[in-house]
Amino acid sequence: MSSQKRKIVVTSALPYANGPIHIGHMVEYTQTDIWVRFQKLQGHECIYVCADDAHGTPIMLSAQKEGITPQELIDRVKVEHQADFADFQVNFDNFHSTHSEENKYFATYIYNQIKEAGHIATRTISQSYDPKAEMFLPDRFIKGECPNCGAADQYGDNCEVCGATYDPTELKNPKSVVTGETPVLKDSKQYFFKLGDYSEMLKEWTRAGHIQKEIANKMDEWLEEGLRDWDISRNAPYWGFEIPDAPGKYFYVWMDAPIGYLASFKNWCDKTGHDFDDYWSADSKAELYHFIGKDIARFHTLFFPAMLHGAGFRKPTAVYCHGFLTVDGQKMSKSRGTNIKARTYLDHLNPEYLRYYFAAKLNSGIEDIDLNLEDFMARVNSDLVGKVVNIASRCAGFIVKKFDAKLSDTISDDSLNQKFLAAAESIANDYEGREFSKAMREIMALADLANQYIDEQEPWVRIKDASQQQNVQDTCSIGINCFRQLIIMLKPVLPNLAKQAEAFLNVDDLQWSDLSNNLTGHSINKFKPLMTRIEKDRIDAIIKASKEAQATEAQLAPQVTDSNIDPIADEISFEDFAKLDLRVAKIVKAEAVEKADKLLQLTLDIGIEQRNVFAGIKSAYKPEQLEGKLTVMVANLAPRKMRFGVSEGMVLAAGPGGKDIHILNPDDGATPGMRIK
Ligand code: 2FM
Ligand code: ZN
Repeated sequence: MSSQKRKIVVTSALPYANGPIHIGHMVEYTQTDIWVRFQKLQGHECIYVCADDAHGTPIMLSAQKEGITPQELIDRVKVEHQADFADFQVNFDNFHSTHSEENKYFATYIYNQIKEAGHIATRTISQSYDPKAEMFLPDRFIKGECPNCGAADQYGDNCEVCGATYDPTELKNPKSVVTGETPVLKDSKQYFFKLGDYSEMLKEWTRAGHIQKEIANKMDEWLEEGLRDWDISRNAPYWGFEIPDAPGKYFYVWMDAPIGYLASFKNWCDKTGHDFDDYWSADSKAELYHFIGKDIARFHTLFFPAMLHGAGFRKPTAVYCHGFLTVDGQKMSKSRGTNIKARTYLDHLNPEYLRYYFAAKLNSGIEDIDLNLEDFMARVNSDLVGKVVNIASRCAGFIVKKFDAKLSDTISDDSLNQKFLAAAESIANDYEGREFSKAMREIMALADLANQYIDEQEPWVRIKDASQQQNVQDTCSIGINCFRQLIIMLKPVLPNLAKQAEAFLNVDDLQWSDLSNNLTGHSINKFKPLMTRIEKDRIDAIIKASKEAQATEAQLAPQVTDSNIDPIADEISFEDFAKLDLRVAKIVKAEAVEKADKLLQLTLDIGIEQRNVFAGIKSAYKPEQLEGKLTVMVANLAPRKMRFGVSEGMVLAAGPGGKDIHILNPDDGATPGMRIK
């Protein structure tokens, strides 16, 4: 690894300023923070900035529902977010807001640069408008029937049942989520960023090693299709920055959100006396990394680099995507109590347990990672408490009580400490390459070696023999030095444990370079337990508190989400009802449909025959959870040809959608094929 001091800028995605931080978010902040701490530990200059993503219609409407101004909402949420991050040991050098002077300056500057170069077009387009709320509606604020498969209650941009994507104007029976009104079409002039002008640059950039292969392949699909102009304007009323030469038009939230990285960095420069251009000019020698979730790759690997390039700024060195978090193999669920807020976790458990567990699971890929609660408890207890901390606890007592707290003057046999040092290079490479799970495995293998060594030396036996005293002091000194090396290697993941260990070892802020020296003839402090085991009742308490929070929110919900509740549909006659052939069906097979984000392909046994049905329930169920279950299907629905095959009926399920979908389950005793009457 190069010993030259690097200048590095790092960002994590900006959280929306209208909701709490969840443990799902914490995967990214933990991943980034570990990487940043590792760079700092190596002696590099690494500046980690973030901000709240404070603009857009959802924030405007959330504030309205609470009866406060958007400014009041974002001010409050920023305080909450910062407290959550600080308590999770996420050490931003700066945390700012996209609703800031700096962001207004950069958004305007970038827009003007791009416009002067001829990359902004204006066109009049027709968009859905809520005449009662007197506002244009974002796609997600319109619901109706899918134009492709007819499924009810689908969002204005895509169908969760058949996976079709469409324009909100194509929805049948569309309703505004804000007021329940039927939207009308209204013309307005909009401002477009001509992304296609940057196609060649982007084709080259996305293939030049700045982004992961899987992401580059995905972006290729867009690049090959041809990049469409991107609408970066929104009509008033909108919570954001007004476009300078366009009264009543505002920058779309996704236009100024990534610019928030520059804004936060500028804010840091102004506080600390650094030169912004050193890091962001087109010829900057500094490195720039964005850590994000795979769902927002398009904004960061196409739109944002084009904006930066167009305005004469440098582009990112790399954009690193990660996968989503599942809990016990399933999407986080409010009803199961696994949709855990960062604060709820912090109320019950040490954040470093979760930081370690995420580190033990994270790698450089984009696959989802699973928090298995049993495994979480077992892994933390066995690795951190049982292996690492145990080394110190086994050696410290002898040193303090029998040798006046002093380590041996020399390392009698340095082979073990040398072995640790030799492993450090590979571990450093793993940190650098975001292969944290591999790093954790290697570190724990070293901890095993140290424990084996102590087992073999049996200091607790030898201490009884007067002639073996030196040997015991030497063994325990080697053990304490192994512990010190492990702490250095774990410091990016467990900063607080490292701090306590430094106090116990009676040393200053340890650096990676300290791995090559040992403590000799040095006095340590009395050992206090540095970390305790996770008890199962703590995890139960988190789940319980999350369920209770959900119940409270649900109770409050009618006041705040009245408009989201499905109205009772038009009355039908008994004859209409009798036409429905509802059957008990056994799910004999369930499979994910490749290339469809929402669909599972089900094989249903209805006694007389088997049916192939596509159901938009992938976000709520893993296929293996469904196999063998009974459910209810509409058996006489006309077969529908979908993108992935023919669907021969429909499975009944309840819930608003997304993760919150529940298939209907008949009572015990029902058998496949029974008709429901
Ligand atoms: O998806 C989100 O949560 C966005 N608030 C992320 C924005 S990242 C950056 F572009 F600002
Ligand atoms: Zn559909």
